[in-house]
Amino acid sequence: MAREDRRRPELLLSTPGRPGRAPDGEGRFCDRVVLGMWQANCYVLGDASLGTAVVVDPGQDGGPEVLRLLAHRGADCEAILLTHGHIDHIWSVPELARRLDVPVLLHPGDRWLWDDPAAGFGDLPPDTLRTQLGLDWDPPTERLEDLRDDQRLSLAGMRLRVRHTPGHTPGSCVFHLADTGDDAPLLLSGDLIFAGSVGRTDFPRGSWQDQMDAIARVVLPLEDRTVVHSGHGPQTTVGVERVSNPFLRSLV
Ligand SMILES: [Fe+2]
Repeated sequence: MAREDRRRPELLLSTPGRPGRAPDGEGRFCDRVVLGMWQANCYVLGDASLGTAVVVDPGQDGGPEVLRLLAHRGADCEAILLTHGHIDHIWSVPELARRLDVPVLLHPGDRWLWDDPAAGFGDLPPDTLRTQLGLDWDPPTERLEDLRDDQRLSLAGMRLRVRHTPGHTPGSCVFHLADTGDDAPLLLSGDLIFAGSVGRTDFPRGSWQDQMDAIARVVLPLEDRTVVHSGHGPQTTVGVERVSNPFLRSLV
């Protein structure tokens, strides 16, 4: 198999639209592409009728696929949103931010990872990502804008509520879209919560207690029908996780 074929990301389209809406039709869309060796989910969330979108967590080698998705939807990107600063979620940010000429929104609690992504793995030499993975990290720091808890982002025709959910990393955030008309609300949960599991907290500066507190404070109050788009793995709902996720069940 050619190298390009092995590295080609899996492309999955999910459109939590109203019944009968064509996947490529007008209206809101949330497209997912699974990227890189860590199989991290990147989302392109937008509104086809407005021709606008945001990109969430563009991970390893995600540039071409994200650009293709935006072109497919006929959408201009307004911003790159980051749920946290781990390299599997930010790998392609420099390339895309410059190419799309957009700001990058990250909680300041993860600025240390932006400055040195290798620090997320522990006590590694700063040039490890270059020597081991071939990544020349050149972050467009001038484009960084701070996220803060309870901030409302008006982007791509949406009002996204930011919640600061530390634990997996100090600056982890989730993005909640409640204003969805007849559609189910949506939560971009990063690595806070997955289908059947929750994020690791054994990486540097992780905190299990902070993460469980964040889940109780931010996730449990959401409507059961809220669709959860996680940083890894398939989508789920708050209702399903509330009854089946052992980590959430311990909080209920
Ligand atoms: Fe992570």
